[in-house]
Amino acid sequence: MRIVISHPKAANRELWCAEMTTLLPGATVFAWQPGDPPGQADYAIGWHPGAALFTAVSGIKAFFSSGAGVDHVLGEPGYPADLPLIRLEDAGMARQMAEYCIYEVIRIYHQRERYEQQQRQHVWRELEPPPRTGFGVGVMGLGVLGAAVAGALSGLGYPVRGYSRSPREIAGIACFSGDAELPRFLAGCRVLILMLPLTAATTALVGRDFLAQLPAGAHLVNVARGALIIEDDLLAALDSGRLAGATLDVFGQEPLPGGHRFWDHPRVRITPHVAAITLVAESARQVAAKISKLELGEPVSGLVDRSRGY
Ligand code: NAP
Ligand code: GLV
Repeated sequence: MRIVISHPKAANRELWCAEMTTLLPGATVFAWQPGDPPGQADYAIGWHPGAALFTAVSGIKAFFSSGAGVDHVLGEPGYPADLPLIRLEDAGMARQMAEYCIYEVIRIYHQRERYEQQQRQHVWRELEPPPRTGFGVGVMGLGVLGAAVAGALSGLGYPVRGYSRSPREIAGIACFSGDAELPRFLAGCRVLILMLPLTAATTALVGRDFLAQLPAGAHLVNVARGALIIEDDLLAALDSGRLAGATLDVFGQEPLPGGHRFWDHPRVRITPHVAAITLVAESARQVAAKISKLELGEPVSGLVDRSRGY
């Protein structure tokens, strides 16, 4: 069996090659990048595979995304229409995502930014915490990562509400779905966490009308994809103070250009797409187990539905 690794970062290519070689010692694992000679492989693993991979390397039976998201593959016009696409499921990302979101929600609920401001001004003043029961935290997207985030926040006693495309039932979470329930979902979110995949249906979903449905003074946390948001509309809501803050881990253009207004906006907190990074050792174990199943003709989970886009 031959496995090709295609990743824009050399260090990741090397790591994946080493892990997969250890896990599947009978396989020949090799890295490929544009400009390399043509070859043959049974399986491909990677991030942002260019169209060239699929013309240069023949025989690929399935492509494994080295991330949870697959927009980096489906946005590639050269991706063969009938090639199965399999994504990472958790593989150590759910805990990272939960920690990232817990940190933000706790900072917001406990008004840490105002205390930091007071410290700079040498002000000793106790701030009234908002009633916990009215501090609704919304998680938009209740998949592998969203459900883990919702569960972790609910475990801390926050009233958590979740939103998904199809109806879900999760103990302790008020679940909403479909267009008709979106206004009621948004109306109860003091903090809204975006955990949606980027698809045709979610691109530019978060615009002026959407943001206007959040309670005044709400916070937005985007750990999904930047293109879910219409940036000018978000900036307008932040400028006016209608939205109290935004924590952004992902952007329409990454790295975020140096001159972008988000960098210096007093209501924006930025991290460079690190909310949940791919842990290669754990991810390689998941991919190797799935390859072994496919070789036995068994079904695997995490198969992307191309018509839904996730
Ligand atoms: P997932 O398991 O596929 O879950 C997707 C969830 O979104 C599902 O609950 C799905 O609804 C819901 N959804 C999809 N389209 C929708 C729509 N149009 N309206 C409402 N709900 C919709 O994905 P995941 O593993 O949780 O990952 C989510 C995303 O996180 C990834 O796609 C990726 O973009 C992002 N991510 C970011 C980082 C980072 O470091 N920032 C790291 C990893 C992943 P159903 O339940 O009805 O199917
Ligand atoms: C990261 O953004 C991922 O999709 O895994």
